[in-house]
Amino acid sequence: MALAEFLAQLDQLVADATATFSSATSVDALEAARIEFLGAKGGRLKATQKGLGKIEKADKPTAGKQFNEAKKIVDAALQEAQQRVAAGASQAGDREPFDPTLPGTAMRLGRLHPITQTIEELKDIMGRLGFTVADGPEVEDERHNFDALNIPIEHPARDPLENFYLATAGHNGSPLLLRSQTSTVQIRVMENRPPPVRIISLGRVYRPDTADATHYPMFHQMEGLLIDRAVTMADLKSVLRLFASSYLGDDVHVRFRPSFFPFTEPSVEADYYWNGKWIEFGGAGMVDPNVLREVGYDPDEVTGFAFGLGVERLCMRRHQITDIREFYKNDVRFLRQF
Ligand code: FA5
Repeated sequence: MALAEFLAQLDQLVADATATFSSATSVDALEAARIEFLGAKGGRLKATQKGLGKIEKADKPTAGKQFNEAKKIVDAALQEAQQRVAAGASQAGDREPFDPTLPGTAMRLGRLHPITQTIEELKDIMGRLGFTVADGPEVEDERHNFDALNIPIEHPARDPLENFYLATAGHNGSPLLLRSQTSTVQIRVMENRPPPVRIISLGRVYRPDTADATHYPMFHQMEGLLIDRAVTMADLKSVLRLFASSYLGDDVHVRFRPSFFPFTEPSVEADYYWNGKWIEFGGAGMVDPNVLREVGYDPDEVTGFAFGLGVERLCMRRHQITDIREFYKNDVRFLRQF
């Protein structure tokens, strides 16, 4: 083969290959072009290379050199086209149109803690029975936590080992503690307003109890207080029964057991029936005349009842939770169920 003919074939090959590579717009088209020109078997470059063998011996070095040059140009053209197509594909990906009909990914929303939800529901139920919400501090003095509640100085409930006393005293030097019951709010409300009173108060209380399935060192109580003329124990029992059936359902059984609290006389413990056993939910009773006198009320004029219920235990009964500690583990798998 004449050298001129071989070089013409090479020029044609380079022109065809560079044009085909640069006009390819997809990965598939480019791959087809690569196989056409650079394929190991049957590619046009390979076929042209075979012509080298037929070149006159004297022209071979020139032909070989030109062949190598042509191969370099074709390789470079392919590489450039591959980069262009890859960049175009990723740009096209960025520009993919937004399809609003595609199913979305649900956002994980936070939610209220089950105890907060319970507190809201209890306020709602008691609100319908005419009770308004009152609040009191969690750091209390001994007067509101004990003295005014008719709890004498020698009473075991005042033992430092039964309470969380603070290292710092109040402004008048009196000891301070984390309140051990919401009954403190009874005193704060009655000190500040004349009868009649019909309030509830929901909040945290603290006791150094060992945590087990039904006890926790920090828990919540719902205090109730109703003071008016001629209030009787029958009113107390009606309110607690009404409350229980509103919160737990009509099938709930309620039982009252005689008990003792220094600030109520007579006193009862209220139990609700759950999972085949009776569970204590709170204490209650008729407000002791000493407490009424302490806040300046006349026990010959007004009487009243009070109760203090464990909020966690109510919530546990309602949702079949068997261990109070679940509320405070902060395990979202538990909390997400409410
Ligand atoms: C009292 O705290 C009284 N102040 C209740 C009261 C109020 C009586 C007004 C009369 C008039 P008691 O210590 O029994 O009572 O607690 C009331 C309820 O709180 C218990 O029935 C129980 O449901 C709950 N409770 C008590 N200790 C814990 C604890 N460590 N963890 C969770 N719940 C508790």
